[in-house]
Amino acid sequence: MTRVAVLNGPNLDLLGLREPEIYGRTTFLELEAMVREEAAILGVTVDWFQTNHEGAFLDKLRALRGEVDGCIINAAAWTHDNLAVRDAVLAFPVPFVEVHLSNIFAREPERRHSVLADRAAGFLCGFGARGYVLALRALVGRLRGE
Ligand code: DQA
Repeated sequence: MTRVAVLNGPNLDLLGLREPEIYGRTTFLELEAMVREEAAILGVTVDWFQTNHEGAFLDKLRALRGEVDGCIINAAAWTHDNLAVRDAVLAFPVPFVEVHLSNIFAREPERRHSVLADRAAGFLCGFGARGYVLALRALVGRLRGE
């Protein structure tokens, strides 16, 4: 069975409560449920993870070595400047899709750059919670060579 990890960075646990005009009203729990529902339809397992701590994020990437076939990553604010996160993601040799709820290119200049995007299998932003479901479909399609 195809195995996918979904890795969420800082403050994403506040989804639904945090700046809903930017990130939407779907809660983090509802987002997880949406992704798990789609995973069940696609027949893939999901390792769902969120942390507010950089070290925990890096350790999770290490722990996933050999355990998953691909990843969906929303590194949140780390996306824009965190080279330790970039290094850890690049050291983890599985395809990943980068996802963001908001369209980072339509936001403040500091958010218009990603330290991960050049190495992603694909990139999706601006579709809110639905973007995670689209990212999962796209990643699984790619892993299956469709
Ligand atoms: C985000 C965009 C980031 O700039 C921000 O720091 C986040 C969420 C998004 O999903 O739109 O925390 O990654």
